[in-house]
Amino acid sequence: MDKPKVFVTRLIPEGGLELIRRACEVEVWPGELPPPRQVLLDRVRGLDGLLCLLTDRVDAELLDAAGPQLKVVSNMAVGYDNVDVAAATARGIPVGNTPGVLTETTADMAFALLMAAARRIVEGADYVRAGKWHTWSPTLLLGYDVHGATLGLVGLGRIGRAVARRAAGFEMRILYFDPYCDAGQAPFVDLVPCCSLDDLLAEADFVSLHVPLTAETYHLIGAEALAKMKPTAVLVNTSRGPVVDSDALYEALKEGRIAYAALDVTDPEPLPADHKLLTLPNCLVVPHIASASHATRTRMAIMAAENLLAGLRGERLPNCVNPEVYAARP
Ligand code: DGY
Repeated sequence: MDKPKVFVTRLIPEGGLELIRRACEVEVWPGELPPPRQVLLDRVRGLDGLLCLLTDRVDAELLDAAGPQLKVVSNMAVGYDNVDVAAATARGIPVGNTPGVLTETTADMAFALLMAAARRIVEGADYVRAGKWHTWSPTLLLGYDVHGATLGLVGLGRIGRAVARRAAGFEMRILYFDPYCDAGQAPFVDLVPCCSLDDLLAEADFVSLHVPLTAETYHLIGAEALAKMKPTAVLVNTSRGPVVDSDALYEALKEGRIAYAALDVTDPEPLPADHKLLTLPNCLVVPHIASASHATRTRMAIMAAENLLAGLRGERLPNCVNPEVYAARP
C-alpha cells in the first residue's frame, strides 16, 4: 500500500521526523526560512498530511490548494493563530497543536526575561564588552528588586500558572487577570484575582502576558493599557507579538511611562534590525525562543508527529484544537 504523503515545512528535531519517516513519504522543506507562500501552495497539492510551524499561514486558500484528500494539519506549537481553524473545521480537517510539553520551558524564559529586565543584565553585559567598566560605582545600572515585588499575570493558563510557581519562590505578590480561568487550578501558590485588567496594570511592578492571540487579545496592551501601568513597571511578553501594540509600547518606553519591556515575541515578527524598538536601551528583545530548549523542542516535534500520524490513520488526534470535527463525522 502506498504510504501517505506529507510535507514538513521546516527541519524539525529528529525524534519527530524519524516517526514520520517510518510511516510516510515525507518531504521536508530544507530552507532556514519558511517556504514562501507560493511554494507552500504548490507543495501541499495532493498531500495527505501537513506538519507546519507558527510561521506558516494555513488558511482556506491553502487547504483548498491541498485538496479534499488532506486528512490532518499538525502545528508544531501550542499557539495556533497561524491556522484558520474554522476553515479547517468546515472541511472536516482536524488541527493538532503541542500543549503542555513546553509549559515549564516557556515559563523559565518568561522569568529569565523578567529578571534580565529588572536587573539590567543585558545592558550590564554590553557595558563590560564595550570596555566601559572602569570601577565599581554606587549608582551604576540600578534596577528593580524582583523579590517581594508584585507580579501581574495576564492570563492564567498553564504557562501563567508555571510562572506563578516561579514567582512564589521569589516571595512575589501575585495578581492575575483571566476571565476564563479560576485560581483553583494553581495549587500551593497564593494568587490574588483582579476584577479588571486595569486594576492589575495599576498595581503590578511586573506584567507578564500569557494569553493566546485572538480578536479579543489583539493589542490588549495598547496606549491606554500602558498608561495605566506604573512608570517603574516592566512588561514581559512571551505570548504573541500582536497582543502588544508596538507603536504604543515604543512611545511608552521612550517617554519613560513604563520602565522596561522584555519581549520574546514582537509585531512585526521577525523584528527588523532597524526597528525603532531596538533603538531603546530599555527594550530587550529575543527571537521567539521561549520554548527553545533541546529537550522541549524534541518533545514538541514528537507530539506534532504523533498528531500527524493519528490524523493520517483516521484516528482522533491526541491534541486536537477543533474536536468538533469528530462530532460531525458519522
Ligand atoms: C508556541 O508553541 O506557540 C510557541 O510560541 C513556540 O514554541
